[in-house]
Amino acid sequence: MRKKILAANWKMNLSADEVQDWLTQFQADFCENDLVELRLYAPALYLQWLSGKNTIHVGAQNVYPLESGAFTGEISIPQLQSIEAKSVLIGHSERRSIFQESDAFLKEKVDACCQHEFSFIFCCGEDLSIRQKQDHLPFLEAQLNASLLHLNKIHLSLLTIAYEPIWAIGTGETANTDQINEVHAFIRKLLVQNYGDRGAQVPILYGGSVNTNNAQSIFSCPDVDGGLIGGASLKASSFLELASSF
Ligand code: PGA
Repeated sequence: MRKKILAANWKMNLSADEVQDWLTQFQADFCENDLVELRLYAPALYLQWLSGKNTIHVGAQNVYPLESGAFTGEISIPQLQSIEAKSVLIGHSERRSIFQESDAFLKEKVDACCQHEFSFIFCCGEDLSIRQKQDHLPFLEAQLNASLLHLNKIHLSLLTIAYEPIWAIGTGETANTDQINEVHAFIRKLLVQNYGDRGAQVPILYGGSVNTNNAQSIFSCPDVDGGLIGGASLKASSFLELASSF
């Protein structure tokens, strides 16, 4: 059985005091649950602090593909590993659109993760105009082919995929379960075509306005192995409520 993952993407939110409040609440209400792996993708400045708390997997929202050098403002995988951060997000739509990260650059990040045996969540998703033209499946296939599906089978255990339709991120609009099932089954088919049975083991998460009202129906879709959660992860209480929605 594939593991379930619930990942908080805090983006550029929460002050240090607010993170402390989040942790206090989390630690008070957290119940050990072997079914779901909880992850926190926190702003870089909190990673070392958070990765000392051993109840939760802590990961970075971004990484630079090279190991060290004159790259002001960037963080490398060996640096993340040195503070025991466990994984990284690659290809989030905000990095693709606001910071113009290209498919080729994302491929470099994927390769760097493989080189350093570092886990990653690879994000993909179409915008509204592509969805309206019903071009989303070929678009997603091209996106995955461009940066991800060259991955060697031996590195597949590092990979989680997140399908995040851009039109549903932070908008309050969620893809419906038919739309989610269609895309997740399509990504699963691509994984199996490329990697055989091992492709069937890769977790595929859904992201985009998941909240405590819609989580149960989304998480019960057959090919949905969890969620990547923005807004609803900023309060520990709602994040923990989502964790109990599986
Ligand atoms: P959202 O963000 O849950 O606020 O829509 C999800 C994401 O961007 O990962």
